Amino acid sequence: MVASSAPGKLILMGEHAVVFGQPAIATAISLRLKCKISPSSGFSVNGEPLSDRYHPYISSAVRKAWGSEPIAIDIASEMPSSSGLGSSAAVTVAVLAALSQMRGQFSEKNVASKGFEVESEVQGRASPIDTSTCTHGRGIFIDRTPAPDMLWEIERDTRRWFIHHCDVPEMDIVVGYTGVVARTGPLVAKVKHFADRSRFGMEIIEEIGSLTLEGLDKLKKGDRVALGGLMTKNQKLLAVLGVSSPEIDRLIKVSLPYSYGAKLTGAGGGGSMIALTDHAKEVSEAIRKRGGTPIVVRTGAKGVTVDTK
Ligand code: PMV
Repeated sequence: MVASSAPGKLILMGEHAVVFGQPAIATAISLRLKCKISPSSGFSVNGEPLSDRYHPYISSAVRKAWGSEPIAIDIASEMPSSSGLGSSAAVTVAVLAALSQMRGQFSEKNVASKGFEVESEVQGRASPIDTSTCTHGRGIFIDRTPAPDMLWEIERDTRRWFIHHCDVPEMDIVVGYTGVVARTGPLVAKVKHFADRSRFGMEIIEEIGSLTLEGLDKLKKGDRVALGGLMTKNQKLLAVLGVSSPEIDRLIKVSLPYSYGAKLTGAGGGGSMIALTDHAKEVSEAIRKRGGTPIVVRTGAKGVTVDTK
């Protein structure tokens, strides 16, 4: 039996714009997804037959990294699915890591690149940010050009992403889950539609990229006041792109009085928002009162792990 575990992730800055090749910053978080795989008499997930419909990420991962020998896959996740906390990337990465370990081919780079193929197949269009963060852990900075701390490079069509390690200090972030399930694929398609049809849409995407570079500088300096301010600006641009939602806006509004900054994280349209704060208790309370589910997470968690038993 092989057991693996992958962290969830938060995008601190740059979601959506990263799909167009703009820079982005993400961190692994203290919530994890655990996976166990053993030989079996049929393909199953938590005792149910493996199906493309109910387990699209796992099915795709099995097709890309496994053969025809039947296996039983068991998954237990601390993250709500479709919450923007990377549960689909974590399940993809954990399954790929366990399967490649069983094949004797485990490497972070291999898992991250196959993980990106899986997400692209299931979502239609994606960036490698989620799968690279869940694989490497700690922090990730994606840029258009390579720099000395580059981990790997991923390309698709005419787009190229250079994935770098980024030191994200351990910080408390309050996640506010709206409870509204929003699928990533249609939101990514909506932004593409906007950017393809208007120069203004593309300008917003480029501006998110510039804000993210500023954010990286503040993160490196440990300047949380400035980082928070940039996150809030990033949120305003995401709202212009049409990926915020009334539920997200409400949770952000009640969090801001106690926070350095707040924004949606992930695809938006529902899912979760995040607040950078020293007052996790007050922010959690405000989120709860407004109908959201607060989850306090620590940034900078370790990446995927595999263990043969
Ligand atoms: O799937 P989510 O909610 O973690 O969001 C992914 C981030 C996007 O930039 C919207 C899409 C992508 O693949 O980068």
